[in-house]
Amino acid sequence: MKVDVLLGLQWGDEGKGKVVDVLTPRYDVVARFQGGPNAGHTLEFDGQKYVLRSIPSGIFQGDKVNIIGNGVVLDPSLFKAEAEALEASGHPLKERLHISKKAHLILPTHRILDAAYEAAKGDAKVGTTGKGIGPTYTDKVSRNGLRVGDILHNFDKKYAAAKARHEKTLKDLHFEYDITELERQWMEAIEYLKEFNLVDSEHEINNLLRDNKSVLCEGAQGTMLDVDFGSYPFVTSSNTVCAGACTGLGIGPNKIGEVYGIMKAYCTRVGSGPFPTELFDETGKKMRDLGHEYGAVTGRERRCGWIDLVALKYSIMVNGVTQLIMMKSDVLDTFPIIKACVAYKVDGEEIDYFPFDINDGVEPIYTELPGWNCDMTKMTSEDEFPEEFNAYVSFLEEQLETPIKIISVGPDRDQTIERYKED
Ligand code: GDP
Ligand code: IMO
Ligand code: MG
Repeated sequence: MKVDVLLGLQWGDEGKGKVVDVLTPRYDVVARFQGGPNAGHTLEFDGQKYVLRSIPSGIFQGDKVNIIGNGVVLDPSLFKAEAEALEASGHPLKERLHISKKAHLILPTHRILDAAYEAAKGDAKVGTTGKGIGPTYTDKVSRNGLRVGDILHNFDKKYAAAKARHEKTLKDLHFEYDITELERQWMEAIEYLKEFNLVDSEHEINNLLRDNKSVLCEGAQGTMLDVDFGSYPFVTSSNTVCAGACTGLGIGPNKIGEVYGIMKAYCTRVGSGPFPTELFDETGKKMRDLGHEYGAVTGRERRCGWIDLVALKYSIMVNGVTQLIMMKSDVLDTFPIIKACVAYKVDGEEIDYFPFDINDGVEPIYTELPGWNCDMTKMTSEDEFPEEFNAYVSFLEEQLETPIKIISVGPDRDQTIERYKED
């Protein structure tokens, strides 16, 4: 019996998909517990690249069961497109993918409401992915949502009532839209969804645990986007932190073992909101170019900057991270100097903790380390790491008081190096 949780510690896109795929052979089940198609999790192996939005990243490894948990919000249309593309590429899903009946449905009008609310916010917009995430979670919490299980009984009536409520709001907002085609595809996708195993996933997971099976929970987004602990209000609408795995799957907290925290060797953010270490110069542009920092879902440019240890310490604390995974180390291969933010200056005062609000005037204070100036992408063992890279890793481990157990040196499944193997 074992449940481990893997989650992002920054503003998302840390490389969760890649590592879940790498770790899946060690588990019986992989489960998503929050978020929805706002996620874009990229995997590369055998010269192929896949981007997953709603389907867990354990789907490519053998016959492992993959679960979409109750904490997830599901858009049937996007799910159908994603599932059909996977099936067409030779990865049958129907037997292995189980979907919680308690997961909430993203309606076509939720997507339109997302656009309408963003338009109404003007310059203060969140820069959402436009997938209807906020409006769907809002309906869930205000007890107006529709769930996957609802499609099995008397669905038309429930759908019509929700749609009418949304249309009234859209009218009040004077928002122009055309729902016809979106709705047609969505209704078709509802029928497609019925072909899957729609389950009571909390029972399923706990039965599996009782039978000594192991579960890997796959986080989406990142801790700095968590609705409680992130850079509010520039956040997503779910709990991306470890506790979200308990509520999003029906797992008791005492069942959680390892908490893998993933970070990049630097930092990125997409959408609006504060980002203390953001670089607006050539160095930031170089990170974006070398790291191919463009959104996996929206194609938007990701903002880039140095690693922020103040924010990372906070993320490690609120998640109870037991081990770190550092991604995209190779992107820094040609940087002569590497910087790490070790404190903030706020109102002229230096602080080393993450404050209530980072929306105004947070100035990063950096420690500089020498770069390693060599190609790490072909390395296969930590014995090959250059001295300067080892010094960077040791510095981070010391500052963060947590071991970095996996280091990624490229997007491919094989470009993954484990440390402390004797453990
Ligand atoms: P996720 O949302 O956390 O799964 O991350 P994304 O897939 O949105 O973004 C991570 C991007 O970095 C993807 O394009 C990956 O293929 C790529 N990637 C992952 N690990 C590495 C790495 O170690 N080096 C490089 N260069 N790219 C990586
Ligand atoms: P993965 O799982 C990066 C960001 C959006 C926006 C904010 C709110 O791939 O790491 P939403 O559509 O959720 O209401 O948008 O959150 N955001 C992400 N940024 N990676 C993600 O997912 C994200 N999911 C949402 O850009 O700023
Ligand atoms: Mg992503």
